[in-house]
Amino acid sequence: MSQIIDGKAVSAKVREGLKGKAAELTAKGVKPGLAVVLAGDDPASAVYVRNKEKAANELGFYSKMIKLPSDVSEEELLNIVRELNNDDAIHGILVQLPLPKGLDEKKVIAEISPEKDVDAFHVQNVGKIMLGEYDFLPCTPAGVMELLKEYGIQTRGKNAVAIGRSNIVGKPMAMLLMHADATVTICHSKTENLADITRRADILIAAIGKAKFITGDMVKEGAVVIDVGMNRDENNKLCGDVDFDSVSEKASFITPVPGGVGPMTIAMLMKNTVKSAENKLLKRG
Ligand code: GUN
Repeated sequence: MSQIIDGKAVSAKVREGLKGKAAELTAKGVKPGLAVVLAGDDPASAVYVRNKEKAANELGFYSKMIKLPSDVSEEELLNIVRELNNDDAIHGILVQLPLPKGLDEKKVIAEISPEKDVDAFHVQNVGKIMLGEYDFLPCTPAGVMELLKEYGIQTRGKNAVAIGRSNIVGKPMAMLLMHADATVTICHSKTENLADITRRADILIAAIGKAKFITGDMVKEGAVVIDVGMNRDENNKLCGDVDFDSVSEKASFITPVPGGVGPMTIAMLMKNTVKSAENKLLKRG
């Protein structure tokens, strides 16, 4: 049986640590401010965004929630981003993805000021991540690294396999693991003999988007399994990309869904917002 990695507890600990920092910044006249923009009515996005707003409020941030209809024009959305770029009370801007059809994600992300890009999606921040010079760490991969650290899981020299090559998770995850001295393999939907590769993983990161895709036979005995998935199973119950029952028989550590990586993404977003407010204070001198 494996040890369950409690993302909820680690997230609470990180957020508790940020509370004091947020209060200090507020006392110095820079109350951390986070703007969350949600376009459209995707129910999963609505839940994520609500959780982000709630976390920001609990930490005493100034939080601004902007909800837009799914037929919002690109120009209107770009104008809102521009306004937030110029708003001194806002240190972090997050535009929830995916955007409704017809809106160009690349164009919208490019408009976000890199100094306020707390998702670390802007090309300037992505480039820095590649070079290992971070202003902001990408939230979900950073959350995974924090969990590994918290549970004393070594990455140096280990075979880490990420399944999924998205800009949000797979690619930046590979970078962070590589910077942490792991030997990294990225697999994706076109990978041949996937199970042969996953069975060699000391650390397996599942970011596929398919319910219970990773089964016990695909996992090495004693592997650390991190589940980034957020799906609904046949009974409409929340589940990850990992078949928890069969994989937990073999893994040494495993993250549950919910309560694993999800809460960490939010904690890292809060951390980036505090960092951005700190940067602002430093600039002000
Ligand atoms: N959609 C799914 N995950 C994320 C995230 O971390 N940030 C944003 N902006 N959108 C997302």
